[in-house]
Amino acid sequence: MRELHDTCPWVIMICEGSKCSRLQKDLRRTFKSELKERGLKREVELVEMECTSRCKQGPVIAIQPANLWLGEVRETNVPQIIDEMFREEPA
Ligand code: FES
Repeated sequence: MRELHDTCPWVIMICEGSKCSRLQKDLRRTFKSELKERGLKREVELVEMECTSRCKQGPVIAIQPANLWLGEVRETNVPQIIDEMFREEPA
């Protein structure tokens, strides 16, 4: 095993399970374009995750390393989520 160093300080995990995907098809694309627009592509990695059985609260995302889980995320929430992430330093 070896440690990987080509990582970003922040990770946004986006549920790509069937229910979350059905509710917000373009959530990942919206995050990607907002991060690009703000010049934050090297600060935040977007990772797909499978269903975590929180479907009733979907669409679900998790922000690491803060371990902040958000439900009912809409594309219109993306700018606010990124604003709030960068008010705090990653652990
Ligand atoms: S499909 Fe996203 S939590 Fe189940």
